[in-house]
Parts: sequence; C-alpha cells; structure tokens
Amino acid sequence: MSKKASFVEIDENTEIKPSKAFSKYARVSSMAQYKRMHAESIEKPHLFWAREAKELKWQKKWDKVLNWEAPYAEWFKGGKLNVCENAVDRHVEEGRGNKAAIIWEGEPGDKRILTYQQLQREVCRMANVLTNQGVKPKDCVLIYMPMVPEATIAMLACARIGAVHSIVFGGFSSESIKDRLEDSKAVAVITADGSWRRGSVVPLKDNMDEALKGNKDVKSVIVLKRCENDVKMKKGRDFWWHKQTAKVPAKHTPKGFSAEHPLFILYTSGSTGKPKGILHTSGGYMVGTYTTCKYIFDMQEDDVYWCTADVGWITGHSYITYGPLLNGVTQIMYEGGPNYPDWGRFWSIIEEYGVTIFYTAPTAIRAFIKAGDEFVDKYDLSSLRLLGTVGEPINPAAWAWYYNKIGGGRCPIVDTWWQTETGAIMISPLPGCTPIKPGTATLPFFGVDAAILDEEGNECKPDQPGRLVIRKPWPSMLRTIYGDKKRYKDTYWSDYDGMYTAGDGAKKDKKGNVYIIGRLDDVLNVSGHRLGTAEIESALVAHPAVAEAAVIGKPHEIKGESIVCFVTLKGDYKETDELKTELRNHIGKVIGAIAKPDAIHFAPAGLPKTRSGKIMRRLLKELVNTGKVTGNVTTLEDSKVIDALEKSLKG
Ligand code: PRX
Repeated sequence: MSKKASFVEIDENTEIKPSKAFSKYARVSSMAQYKRMHAESIEKPHLFWAREAKELKWQKKWDKVLNWEAPYAEWFKGGKLNVCENAVDRHVEEGRGNKAAIIWEGEPGDKRILTYQQLQREVCRMANVLTNQGVKPKDCVLIYMPMVPEATIAMLACARIGAVHSIVFGGFSSESIKDRLEDSKAVAVITADGSWRRGSVVPLKDNMDEALKGNKDVKSVIVLKRCENDVKMKKGRDFWWHKQTAKVPAKHTPKGFSAEHPLFILYTSGSTGKPKGILHTSGGYMVGTYTTCKYIFDMQEDDVYWCTADVGWITGHSYITYGPLLNGVTQIMYEGGPNYPDWGRFWSIIEEYGVTIFYTAPTAIRAFIKAGDEFVDKYDLSSLRLLGTVGEPINPAAWAWYYNKIGGGRCPIVDTWWQTETGAIMISPLPGCTPIKPGTATLPFFGVDAAILDEEGNECKPDQPGRLVIRKPWPSMLRTIYGDKKRYKDTYWSDYDGMYTAGDGAKKDKKGNVYIIGRLDDVLNVSGHRLGTAEIESALVAHPAVAEAAVIGKPHEIKGESIVCFVTLKGDYKETDELKTELRNHIGKVIGAIAKPDAIHFAPAGLPKTRSGKIMRRLLKELVNTGKVTGNVTTLEDSKVIDALEKSLKG
C-alpha cells in the first residue's frame, strides 16, 4: 500500500471511497459483499453468528444460537466457554506465545512488553491469588486502576475464574466508588497505590480507603505498587500485588462457564438518579467484540493497534481488553495524558512502535488541532493504515484534519457509534468497502437492525430527525441493569414494542447513512464521557448552601459539551466567587474531577419552572447560548425569574 501523504479537500458533502490498495486485502472488500453478509445476519442470525462463534474456542458447543423473549436474550444457550482462555491461552496454543500482546508505555517514559505467553502467566497468577482470597464465580470484584497492563490482567483474571468485574474509572471520587461498591456488593477490590496523571500522582489507594469506610462486604484489597506514594495497608485486608503473585503458580486451568455467565458490570449515567450498572455476559459479548474488531478495524496478524481510551470506560473494555486480545493482535497501551510532556506524545508513540490502527475520540482530535500542527509534523506517521473515532459526533473540520494530517490522506476513518449498553460497535463503516463521509457513522454492522422512528413509531423519511432504535437483539447487548430488571425494561424497551431505544436522536440520508445528532435525554456528553444532569444536580443540592440546582450542557469547541450549573442558595448564604469555587470542588469530590462544571451561575430569584413545578431547562439553554430568552415562555410560572437570570449572567 502507498505510504505517500496526500491532501484531500473536505467538506461535509465529501464522500471518500476506499482505495483499491486498502480493499484488496480487507476482510470485506465490496459493498455487494457487505450487503449480502448484512442481509444474512438479519434474516438468518443463527447461521451468521454460529459461523463467527465457531472461530473461537468453546468448551461445550451451544444448543441454540438465540433465545429471544423481548427484552430478554440468551445467546449461544447451552454453550460453555472461558473468555480469558479465548483472549490469551488460545493464542499461545495457536503459536502466538512469543508475539507481543501489550506494548505498554508509562507516562514517565517507562516501557514494558508482554507477550501472549507472559500475559498468560500473569493472568494465571492473579486468577490463583483471587481464588486464594476466596473469590468465587459470580462474586463481584471492583477494579480501580491506572492504565497499566495489570488493569487488563485483573479483568482477565476475573473472567478466568468466573468472577464479575466492575471497573471504576480512576478519575472518579471516593463517593462514586462507595456507591458502586454498595450496588455491586463487591467482595474484593484490585487497585494501586497511585496513578500518574500529567506528572502528578492520583492517590488511588487513599480514595479507595475512604470509599471502604464502613463497608462490610469487601474481604480483600489487592494493591499494585505503581507510583511508590505512601499508602496505609490494613492488616488482614490489604495485600500487595507483587507479594501475592510471587507466592502462587503461573499455571491455572480455565474452567468453562455458561454463555450467559455474567462477565462484568459497568456503571453509566442515565437521565435520572444514580448511575446504572450495565450487565454484560460472556458468550455474546465475546463474539460481538471479536467480530467487530475483526471487520471494523480489519485486524490482521501483523497490525499494531492502539486505542487511546481508559479501561474504566466501555471503549477500554471492548476495544483494549477484550476485542483486540480475542483477535490476537499486538496493541499499544499508554498510561498518561495526551499532552505530557507535550502535545506530541501520541504521535511519538505511533512513530516509535509503528502503529497501524489508531482509535481515539473527537474531543482529543479537537484538542490536538488547537495545540498546533507543529506537534504532529515532527513525527513520521506513515505506518498508519486505519483511523477510528468514538464517543461523540465528529465535526467535519475535525474529521478533515484527522484524515489529512494524521492519516496522510490515505487512511479510512471508521466513525463508530455504540454505547456502554450495546457492548460493541453498532454503526460504522467497514474500511474496505463503505464510502466514508464526515459526520456520519454510516451503516449498521452485521446483525444490527437500526431504524429511526418518529414518536408514533413510523420510520422517518431521509433527513428527517427521529429516535434511533435497534429492532432486533444482538450478541453483545446488555442483559439487564444490575439488580433492577424493571428499570432495564422501562429504560430501554418501553418506547416501542420489542425494540431497544438508544436514547440518541439521529437521521439517515438517502443512502441510509446514519447521522447521530445527540442524546435525547438529560445526559451530557463531555469530552466523550457520559454524565447525567440529574447526578450533578443531586451532588449540588447535597451541599448545605444549595436550595435548588439545574444543570445544562453548552456546546464547547473542544469538549463537545460543557457543564453549566444554575443554583439558588439557601437563606443566609452569599453569592460569592469563593462559594462558586467551593461548589465546583464539591462536585469534584462527590462525582469526580470529570464532572466539575465550566460555569456556575446564581439564580437569586429561583429557577424557571412550569406551573406544575418542572424546571424549564430549554430556557436556561437559550439564555446561556444567546444571553436572553425569546422563545415561548407562556408556560413559565414567574417571568421575573428570567429577568433576574439575565442580570446574573451579565454580572
Ligand atoms: O450519544 C452517543 C454517543 O455516546 C453515547 C454512549 O456513551 P457511552 O455509553 O459512554 O459510550 C461511549 C463509547 C461507546 C451514545 O448514546 N456516541 C458514541 N459514539 C458516537 C456517539 N455519538 C456520535 N457519534 C459516535 N460515533
């Protein structure tokens, strides 16, 4: 394939067909092949998915590919497998033992390579440690780790012994961990002393100690030494990773678990209340992440793949730990920030290791554009052959820069739409056949029956916005909200009979390309991270000064959306800048630094409400975006409120 960089003039109407050079070796190389395979996957899912599943190792073959009683699915019923065995041992058995599985770079510059064989040994050790600590199949293990290979090792070790992992992103606070510990009833924790972030140490163990106060379920805490920061170790409960793993054998026989055995819980924000625990199971998730990686990233034996997400998010679960390892690929893992020590860090990593497939978020791309091309120009990115984005809509300017500047005008971009709930990519181009266009995730993946419906359930016409739904079950779909079957049904399956509602607004063009418009519920997408306005509001009203709060999203050049809060104070509290800072920090403490708002405005005369007492966020949005309210205010209970807010915003 030509490595020459070229420049392509791009606007939102530009359509780029895959080059012959790319298609020639791609797994799906023509639209006719895509259409044929997609039709089969929808009309005969049992045939399609059985063929894919057969490429993996089953200790016992399934009796039935799909058992579907909406909204409950069982995939590969009767089958037995071990996801970890498929991601690790299978490759050692197939001769990839000495192939690099993970090439890791720490933020301070330390480096490590783990081959599949070494990964197998480490995973076996941790599986033995967990078993010795009394962790049993279906027990939940909470993982709170930096981006180090041990995070993936911990996940795989849980999968190996049939324990259910629940990862909490390292940027979340003690209180967030506490809620998740309580909800999941975790019996063990795996964490580290600290985590590097832009040159300073995030005290993970201290945060964990705080979260564990009063907890009676957690029997053991395994602590990895990473930053050498001081930590307190509680006797009988806390154990060092290196000491425990040194005591156990590096061998462990992976037992087969049923295909519907729970694999992990991952908490994500919804429109109301506390984050919900999305439950994924083994067989379907394994097949889904394996297949999407294989076709969408077109993974080949000699690829060097890099996904810049954190394992604390679903992207890190499916496209760092599971999908790539299930495909036996070599992947890069990087611990720190993209701008440490400067904005060239990612590009230096791509050059050094010859990365061929690169998967990141639009928010990062926008930040790189702002930082300046000089950080990119220093490096040779000609090893790249495929680019991907995920997490939020990508604007045409960012897409064009990514295509030309990073991809050298020669790499297809796969804009992948999916969610924590879907487990794997749902809508995306296939790089060897789908014509790509900025701003659209293009066409549904195999097995995905995506439609855009109006409120009555009719399919929208081309270019008419509506709600994105999935009309048929797919292997990696969530199975429930942990501990709350009713909420699962009400949240996802009650808008239209037997269909999954994604919560996103979208439209299709005449060719069927899907454009994601954004969330329809009160969920914000800040730098590709999901945050519920209700969560932030409830953190605010938990502060003694706050009587009432409303949170909205405001378009932001880099983050996509920024958080703006309106608060009414209780009686004696004064509207000061110090209090604003205190409230920002308070949100950071309750949820985590990622939820700290960009702006807090006081609402001295109260918040705009309807006569029935509902906060009119629409008016707040208009106010923030234009400085005044001109829209329909007839339902507003007290129009003086708006005057006071307009003044407050100007001041
Ligand atoms: O609004 C969509 C947006 O991210 C939401 C899912 O967030 P989360 O569960 O945190 O998973 C993010 C990573 C998979 C979706 O409901 N989203 C995700 N991918 C895209 C996107 N919006 C537009 N284009 C995408 N490619």
